[in-house]
Amino acid sequence: MGLFPWSKSFGVVLFLVLVSPVSGIGANWGTQSTHRLPPEIVVRMLRENGIRKVKLFDADYDTLKALGKAGPELEVMVGIPNDLLSTLASLKAAEKWVSKNVSVHISNNNVNIRYVAVGNEPYLTTYNGTYLRTTLPAMQNVQTALVKAGLGNKVKVTCPLNADVYESSSGLPSGGDFRAAIHGFVSQLVKFLSDNGCPFTINIYPFISLYNDPNFPVEYAFFDGNATPLNDGGTTYTNMFDANHDTLVWALQKNGFGNVPIIIGEIGWPTDGDRNANAQLAQRFNQGFMQHISEGKGTPMRPGPVDAYLFSLIDEDAKSIQPGNFERHWGIFTYDGLPKYSLNLGTTNSGALVQAKNVKYLERKWCVFKPNAKVDDPQIAPSMSYACGLADCTSLGYGTSCGGLDARGNISYAFNSYYQINNQLDDACKFQGLGTVTKSDPSTGTCRYGLMIEPYYGGAERQLGYTRMALALLLFMWTLL
Ligand SMILES: *[C@@H]1O[C@H](CO)[C@@H](O)[C@H](O)[C@H]1NC(C)=O
Ligand SMILES: *[C@@H]1O[C@H](CO)[C@@H](O)[C@H](O)[C@H]1NC(C)=O
Ligand SMILES: *[C@@H]1O[C@H](CO)[C@@H](O)[C@H](O)[C@H]1NC(C)=O
Repeated sequence: MGLFPWSKSFGVVLFLVLVSPVSGIGANWGTQSTHRLPPEIVVRMLRENGIRKVKLFDADYDTLKALGKAGPELEVMVGIPNDLLSTLASLKAAEKWVSKNVSVHISNNNVNIRYVAVGNEPYLTTYNGTYLRTTLPAMQNVQTALVKAGLGNKVKVTCPLNADVYESSSGLPSGGDFRAAIHGFVSQLVKFLSDNGCPFTINIYPFISLYNDPNFPVEYAFFDGNATPLNDGGTTYTNMFDANHDTLVWALQKNGFGNVPIIIGEIGWPTDGDRNANAQLAQRFNQGFMQHISEGKGTPMRPGPVDAYLFSLIDEDAKSIQPGNFERHWGIFTYDGLPKYSLNLGTTNSGALVQAKNVKYLERKWCVFKPNAKVDDPQIAPSMSYACGLADCTSLGYGTSCGGLDARGNISYAFNSYYQINNQLDDACKFQGLGTVTKSDPSTGTCRYGLMIEPYYGGAERQLGYTRMALALLLFMWTLL
């Protein structure tokens, strides 16, 4: 009796303290997966985890419809992919886009759309300027269309940019300015945001800094305060997030836009595909970030609450791995909605992540390398590269979750990934007679051999499309084998 009431009321107090900050944490919901969870399951998961802001990369009808079921407490940022930007140079096209992808959902489906993200990091250096001339006209037209639709006050336009749109001549936040090569484009974009009361959305990635530079001071990526402080005219910085964010604030100030609100569009840490990508470091980063912003202190240059969207909610096994193998592992949840590590978002009573409910799996069976096959069979290399090329082998390799497998384990992992992605079709476990189906889970330690979830068919059209794709894959396989 003695402890029980205390711990209970303590729980309530803690709950109130943690939940009270105005905005709460948001999450990015990307859908570049071979098998996406049905939108209704994800929306329930968002609600049960107390995530009240969600950022999308497109405007998928079923996704938005499902979000509407959550009611007005769930704020939505819809996205416009970069490949649509040039089309939106036409005001007519922008009006159509707003009508179909915003107005309908607000008036008919009860979706609380608050932002339109026009493009996704369109000024990224690696795009070689492809979208430099189409981004701002698209933003202007979408803004005009929103005003015309009577949504000018409710829905704000923004453009998620990567932190590579600014730089610092001195290496200190106070040296911040827009990147010289695109200075004019960025200032025009920010002027548009400022004129229309829209926020600047920035994606900040200490993980990528560490990935790109082996000499990057590791402690500086995290929020524990262990890094050697950076002294910027008396202001000290012990984590990269604050310093990077304030480099932006300085850049905005220098160009006369010191009052533009800032949204952190993406922040997070991957769990696989690189030696620095694992559950421990992801937990340390994300929990550290939550702790850092929960105090409502902000950064030295921008005191106050931080408005942020974690990247990401769920793993996406069909993302391009051109940036690195970690790219498919940003989720705080696995592809099937299981929490990967403990993370207190300050939004649930238990302080724990809540897994997805009612997830439907395919049969419990896996494809593995035949026990009696020889590891020096000449067909292994082509079979593996075929499987890995079409499926997902980013959990294999040095420092990854399946990095400890032996040669047989490696082959099995690749075969199984291909088999599961192809919905456990018998033909997808042939591999010239090297593959066999087993009912016993080959997973060991940190290495999870996937068991696929049931494919989600958004509608009749997509179902046809999917069948066609599966057939194409199969035919391709038959010609190869
Ligand atoms: C609405 O958004 C979807 C998904 O991004 C896109 O494919 C479609 O073309 C948009 N509709 C219009 C009318 O622009
Ligand atoms: C950018 O340019 C580089 C070098 O010319 C090229 O390799 C790359 O494919 C280009 N990227 C895009 C997105 O056009
Ligand atoms: C398993 O595969 C990975 C990635 O292809 C490779 O780096 C590793 O050397 C392989 N291990 C064995 C024992 O073959």
